[in-house]
Amino acid sequence: MSNTLRPNSLDAFWMPFTPNRAFKADPRMLVRAEGMHYYTPDGRPVLDGTSGLWCVAAGHAQPKIVAAIQRAAAELDYASSFNLGHPAAFEFANQLGGLLPDRLDRIVFTNSGSESADTALKIALAYQRARGKPNKYRLIGRERAYHGVNFGGMTVGGITKNRVNFGPMVSGVDHLPHPHDITRNAFSRGQPANGAEYADALERLVALHDASTIAAVIIEPVAGSTGVLVPPQAYLQRLRELCTKHDILLIFDEVITGFGRLGAPFAAQYFDVRPDIITMAKAINNATVPMGAVAASREIHDAIVNNSDTPIELFHGYTMSGHPLACAAGLATLEVFREQRLFERAAELAPYWEQSLHALRDARHVIDIRNLGLIGGIELEPRPGKPTQRALETFRACFEKGVLIRVTGDIIALSPPLIIEKQQIDQIVDTIRGVLQTLD
Ligand SMILES: Cc1ncc(COP(=O)(O)O)c(C=O)c1O
Repeated sequence: MSNTLRPNSLDAFWMPFTPNRAFKADPRMLVRAEGMHYYTPDGRPVLDGTSGLWCVAAGHAQPKIVAAIQRAAAELDYASSFNLGHPAAFEFANQLGGLLPDRLDRIVFTNSGSESADTALKIALAYQRARGKPNKYRLIGRERAYHGVNFGGMTVGGITKNRVNFGPMVSGVDHLPHPHDITRNAFSRGQPANGAEYADALERLVALHDASTIAAVIIEPVAGSTGVLVPPQAYLQRLRELCTKHDILLIFDEVITGFGRLGAPFAAQYFDVRPDIITMAKAINNATVPMGAVAASREIHDAIVNNSDTPIELFHGYTMSGHPLACAAGLATLEVFREQRLFERAAELAPYWEQSLHALRDARHVIDIRNLGLIGGIELEPRPGKPTQRALETFRACFEKGVLIRVTGDIIALSPPLIIEKQQIDQIVDTIRGVLQTLD
C-alpha cells in the first residue's frame, strides 16, 4: 500500500462550503484564538466580526468554558444517553428550559444545526401521528431558507445550489416566498416596514394542499446564512396566527438567533412570538464542542410520550446526544452569559451597531444595509457578469487588513461575539469602508 500524500499537504481535507482549489492555492490559516481575535501562523491578530460562524458568542477560548471542558474530559469522557444517563445532560436540559419560552422546555440533544433541523421536522411528524393525524405530513419551508445540509433541512431549505445536485429529496414539502423586499425596504434600520403580507402566502398553500395535510412550517426568524433577511414588522406574528388558525406547528430555527444574538435569549422572546418547536446549536456551548438541541413544547412532548404504545417513544437519537463534554461546556457557557450579562450587553450595543453599520450607506458598491440585534448585512452591487466576486475580494482584503467578515453571495454578513467593544465595531466598519473604496 502506498501513501501518496505529501507531508503537510492540504490535499486530503475536502473542505466544507469552500472553493477548495482556490483556497488551497492561497490558504488562510488560523492557529489560535482568544477573546475577540483569531491569530494567523505568523502571529497576526484578526478581529472576529463573525463569531467564527455565528457561534462564538462569549468570545474565544473563554477561560471558564475551557476549564469546564478539561474537567469533564478527565472525569467522564463519554457516556451514551441510550438507556443511561449522566447528570450534566439533565442539568443542561433543565437550564436550557429555564431560558426558553414558558413550557417550551422538553429538550432533545443533537450535534449540529443540521441535525437539529431534521430532528425538529421528525418530531413534528411524530406529533401529528401521535395525536391521530398521520395525514398531516407536509412540511413547509421558505425560499432562501437555510436549515443545514441534511435531507430534511435541505428540502425545506430554499438555496438552489444546495439542492440542485441531490435528487428528489424528501417528498411532501412546499415553500413560502421569502419576505425580503429590497425594492421597498432598502436601508431599513431594524425590522423593515413593508412585507407582513408575505405571510399570507400560507393561506394559498393551505388552499392548495388543505390544512389537514400540513404538519409544520419551519422558518428562521432572522435568516443569516442567506444574507441577513430581517422579518418585516408584524410578519412573524401573522405567520403565527395563520399556523394557529390552521392547526399547523410553527418551528423557529434559532441556530443563529438563539443565545443573545438579538439581545434576548431567543428570537421567540425578542419578537414575542411563541413557536411550538425551537432548534438551536452553535452558541449553545460557545461552539467549543459540536452540539445542537431541539426544544419542543410540553404538549408535543406529552402527546408523543404519553400516547406511545412502544416502550421507546421516539425512535430517534445520536450516539453523541448529550455528550458529557458538550454539556459541561454548555453549562459553563450559560454561566458566562449570566455573569457577563451578555444578552443584555448585546441589547445595549445594538443601537451603536445599527448606527455604525448604516454609516456605510455612502460607501462604494453598497446597495443595502440591514441590521437587528448584533447582526448586520451589507449588500454589494454584484460586478456585472461576475456575481459574488466583489464580495469575495472584500472578504480576502478585510482578512489581510486584520478583520474577519463573512460573505454570502454579494452580501457581507456580520455577527460579532457579544463581548465586542465599540472601538472594535468602528474597526470593522472602517476596514470594510476602506476595502470597498479600493475595489472596482
Ligand atoms: C438557521 C440555521 N439552521 C441550521 C444551520 C446548520 O447548522 P450546522 O452547520 O451546525 O449543521 C445553520 C448554519 O448556519 C443555520 O444558520
